[in-house]
Amino acid sequence: MNIKQMVGEKAAEYVEDGMIVGLGTGSTAYYLVEALGKRVKEGLKIKGVTTSSRTKEQAESLNIPLVDLNDVEKIDLTIDGSDEISADYQGIKGGGGALLFEKLVANASEKVIWIVDDSKMVIRLGAFPLPVEIVSFGYKQLFRLFESKGLKPVLRLDDSKEIYVTDGGHYIVDLHLNTIENPIELAAWLDGLTGVIEHGLFLNMVHTVIVGHEDSVEILDVR
Ligand code: 5RP
Repeated sequence: MNIKQMVGEKAAEYVEDGMIVGLGTGSTAYYLVEALGKRVKEGLKIKGVTTSSRTKEQAESLNIPLVDLNDVEKIDLTIDGSDEISADYQGIKGGGGALLFEKLVANASEKVIWIVDDSKMVIRLGAFPLPVEIVSFGYKQLFRLFESKGLKPVLRLDDSKEIYVTDGGHYIVDLHLNTIENPIELAAWLDGLTGVIEHGLFLNMVHTVIVGHEDSVEILDVR
């Protein structure tokens, strides 16, 4: 079994009957959704809130009942992947382009679990390019601003080399920062820019991290 499958299946054990569950996006979350599909088939009663069109398609194919984020008071538990997790458990997400819906779902959740392989655990954030979702109208203005600040923006393209468009209809610029000295300051600056819809800094958000190693799974209860 590969590491992503190990952590996906481990995380599925946290899901209990009656829960509303946020379903993450990406190649690790894929295994979580598969495992939940299996448990639903065996009688588990849950409702899922998806974080992307991809995950929605997968959940529907497995007959996992879904509910719109608008129609829930709160989500009991969200399980998602992550691109980087620092020593103080701050995260970068959005490598798969779903950061906006992922953050909306996480913000509505009582508990958040991230599932990763150990290559994602770092001392300090930033080696993974930071995704920033921006309005498509006049996007080059923000792009130039990022360039002028030395943030090394790269406009994300899809497999056909067209501009990547998110489920929300926006573009993504990946900032190649190498290292992020102060994630809280950077997040606040990005939050204040007109045209920035959301960024991939997920700060003070995760409750439990499930880390997969070659032949073991480690549970880190953060808060
Ligand atoms: C998608 C995400 C993913 O959770 C993140 O990119 C990790 O993906 P993977 O499990 O495929 O490495 O944030 O927007």
